[in-house]
Amino acid sequence: MRSDLNHDTIVAFLADIFDRRGGEEYLGEPVTMAEHMLQGATIAERNGLPEDIIVAALLHDIGHFTSEFGTFTMDDTEDRFHEDAGAEVLAPFFPSAITDCVLYHVAAKRYLCATKPEYFKRLSEASIHSLKLQGGPMSPEEVAEFRKNPNLERIIQVRYLDEAGKHADMETPGFAHFAPMVQRIVDRHRNGES
Ligand SMILES: [Fe+2]
Repeated sequence: MRSDLNHDTIVAFLADIFDRRGGEEYLGEPVTMAEHMLQGATIAERNGLPEDIIVAALLHDIGHFTSEFGTFTMDDTEDRFHEDAGAEVLAPFFPSAITDCVLYHVAAKRYLCATKPEYFKRLSEASIHSLKLQGGPMSPEEVAEFRKNPNLERIIQVRYLDEAGKHADMETPGFAHFAPMVQRIVDRHRNGES
């Protein structure tokens, strides 16, 4: 973990990743990485969802940039366990209501495929492809275990926003629009309020 990250620098750190790396391709989708995350956050905001959901959608794929976190090893591949890496870098600064959405957004896809037949139709081709690599739909035992998570509802909401944020042409505000919201959540967490 990078030692220069703290409650006052984390938001600028995340903004900088969006700036410098956001233009990278979101593998197999018609959007860049930044567009994908900004679209999810924008759709959440337009639907009046709470700030923790908006911020979770905004940051859910931040783990794709593992090389920024100081935890990169040569064994890493682009997409491998990006959800773990993302949750790990956010964990000191954000409540579990947000980090769980990041940590389990891949598991949520496997959960929804196992429990909601109509959900599968929402998946893009790339998402179906990665589903196979991620272990396919959950088994009944895995589903039962997953349901125990107190943040289940949030996790599912963010997963739907993940699916929704793949429009080839959607106007969204940039990271700066969401930065004050992100900082509010970081500050609340620092003060032990969430
Ligand atoms: Fe995503």
